[in-house]
Amino acid sequence: MNRRPPEDEGIDAALLKALRLGDGLGVSGAELSERLGVTRAAVWARIEELRRLGYDIEASPHRGYRLVSAPDVLHADDMLAQLGSVQVIGRDIRVFRETTSTSNIVEKLAYDGVKEGVVVFAESQTQGRGRLGRQWISQPGVGLWFSVLLRPAMRPQESTRLTVAAAAALCLALREQTGLGVEIKWPNDLLIRGRKVAGILTELSAELDGVKHLTLGIGVNVNSQPKDFPADLRRVATSLRAETGRAMHRAPLAVAILRELDRQYSRVCSGRFSEVTSEWEALCSTMGKPVAIQIGGRRMEGRAESLDAEGALLLRTQHGRLERIIGGDVTVLK
Ligand code: BTN
Repeated sequence: MNRRPPEDEGIDAALLKALRLGDGLGVSGAELSERLGVTRAAVWARIEELRRLGYDIEASPHRGYRLVSAPDVLHADDMLAQLGSVQVIGRDIRVFRETTSTSNIVEKLAYDGVKEGVVVFAESQTQGRGRLGRQWISQPGVGLWFSVLLRPAMRPQESTRLTVAAAAALCLALREQTGLGVEIKWPNDLLIRGRKVAGILTELSAELDGVKHLTLGIGVNVNSQPKDFPADLRRVATSLRAETGRAMHRAPLAVAILRELDRQYSRVCSGRFSEVTSEWEALCSTMGKPVAIQIGGRRMEGRAESLDAEGALLLRTQHGRLERIIGGDVTVLK
């Protein structure tokens, strides 16, 4: 279990945590200074910095400091403090204003030997990528664009388990945070009323007998509006804002997703993948339906039956054969 001692926590994180615990009541400068182990002047300097980032913090001589509202920004220390105790995913969080792709950053960290569990967010990506070589539109500030570094002890053919676990985690967290009917479309698209709201890109570095590292790249359209999508995507893409009619703060959503990812990852790592698949199957709109699957130039039709122990889809073809599918594009047939 990873729980960073208070002295290691960023001062901002500890400060925001103390203000949140104040529950709308003020916390005095003296109390904050004692709790954080820094001078009152240092507390003041950090409060000023947080205000600059958009946190509305009231200061009064009698009531002390009070957190009135937090902005819709991704602040690494604040997310760490909100996340609290996790096994692996989210014990290290880094936020970039702009990057080519968060998966590129994670890839570099992997080769630098960084521990698994680090999560890299970006406010925007200039070369966000999706599955099957597609582009992933990542406009500034309207979504969650992030990647997670994992080093699971498994064979490369078992790595599909992690995509399955990530899809279940994402779906559960989005449902819990929004109350929307989010569904998984095999293999790893998240849909609301048939439109795509989030996607997962798993990239693997492996040798024949084992995974070296794996990058889970996750994109969630949170506050995107139709103008944020290119014309050809407007009919097939959606966002949480488009579905609920209201903008939402991204950090609490990110924290809920990371917590759920961590829970599902520990299931995979402790030999409890069957618990993940049963949860996944209940969330998946493709299961039990007649489907067509396009894999490169090949098209197959059949009924999506279940997932196997490695996370591959078992497709019952028209000829009654059971085919094992690990990638491709699926369409549910009417
Ligand atoms: C898909 O559905 O095609 C997968 C989309 C994955 C997008 C995310 S955004 C964060 C990470 N960085 C990338 O370049 N891609 C993934």
